[in-house]
Amino acid sequence: MATPSPTLVDRFGRRITYLRVSITDRCDFRCLYCMNDDTAFLPRAQILTLEEILAVCQAFVELGVGKIRITGGEPLVRKGALDLLADLGRLRGLRELVLTTNGSQLAKHASALKAAGVRRLNVSLDTLRAERFRRITRVGDLGQVLRGIEAALAQGFDKIKLNTVVLKHCNHDEVGDLVEYAVERGMDISFIEEMPLGLVTGHDRAADYYSSDEVRRDLACRFELLPTPESTGGPSRYYRVVGTATRVGFISPHSHNFCGSCNRVRLTAEGRLLLCLGNEHSMDLKRVLRAHPGDGERLKQAIEAAMALKPERHHFDLQAHPVIFRHMNVTGG
Ligand code: GTP
Ligand code: 5AD
Ligand code: SF4
Repeated sequence: MATPSPTLVDRFGRRITYLRVSITDRCDFRCLYCMNDDTAFLPRAQILTLEEILAVCQAFVELGVGKIRITGGEPLVRKGALDLLADLGRLRGLRELVLTTNGSQLAKHASALKAAGVRRLNVSLDTLRAERFRRITRVGDLGQVLRGIEAALAQGFDKIKLNTVVLKHCNHDEVGDLVEYAVERGMDISFIEEMPLGLVTGHDRAADYYSSDEVRRDLACRFELLPTPESTGGPSRYYRVVGTATRVGFISPHSHNFCGSCNRVRLTAEGRLLLCLGNEHSMDLKRVLRAHPGDGERLKQAIEAAMALKPERHHFDLQAHPVIFRHMNVTGG
């Protein structure tokens, strides 16, 4: 009889098949929902080396994880990111290597990403107006990101998805234009409800909340949206834009909790294995890696033991002070 393939299962019977890896907390943007303009980054010595990150990914793949998403900060600002991606692309047993990026470096790196074996890209894009883009990212250049998206399209990735964090009074009136932009290019787009991670001073999260249902209602005036059970293994609930290749997704941690079907854990740049985006339960894998260098079995034991720590759900509350002090750049979403 064939030996069953290994699986990671938590206390609630959820299978963990998806690892999100933040390879740096650094970013060349300062999005106002993600961090503050003076957010400090980790010193170099504190973050995992690329070899250590590869060892953790390999252990997860041996434990049955089939999808790895590389995130940041902005992952492409880390030196050696492309070499790491190429190494990951060669891992046997990994079904899907994907990347989340702010798009700032895509014009330069799109072809190397494709060559490394990256299958899908998620690119953050909250607005098509240069001035707004500058206000939201504080420092970013919209033209540079749009050129990056065109470069990525030219490479023929399996799919490119845009991510839009919707904020009332800021970009909620642009959701239709963003869908149009995605439709014209055959891309998907997800609209995200902002999550209260870390204290941000640039805007008022509760006042700027705009629900996924409101976005869907606004879009219905312009597009025919048909619900579809399709999934990319992430938290988006998808709708097809009738007559196009585009799917519109909604990531709605507040209005449609998706913790029951959670299949993922996260590795921070510092080597902490976080069991939930909205809780601090974690396992220090850097300690294991540095105490037992090269010992893949020890690493796998630690990962298996961590499954018992995975909490049932997050308890985000936009009205209250955030209870999670880490900002989103620590986990890349
Ligand atoms: P695919 O479905 O593979 O395309 O990816 P994704 O949409 O899950 O990943 P992406 O990196 O594009 O993240 C989009 C948004 O989903 C970000 O705001 C993430 O923070 C959010 N997200 C992803 N996983 C979780 C989760 O487990 N819990 C919560 N609350 N948000 C999540
Ligand atoms: N809430 C929701 N999404 C966020 N992102 C960054 N910060 C937040 C937040 N506080 C998004 C980015 C990126 C994705 C990985 O996470 O816009 O698209
Ligand atoms: Fe950088 Fe992404 Fe955070 Fe924006 S959301 S500051 S692009 S890590």
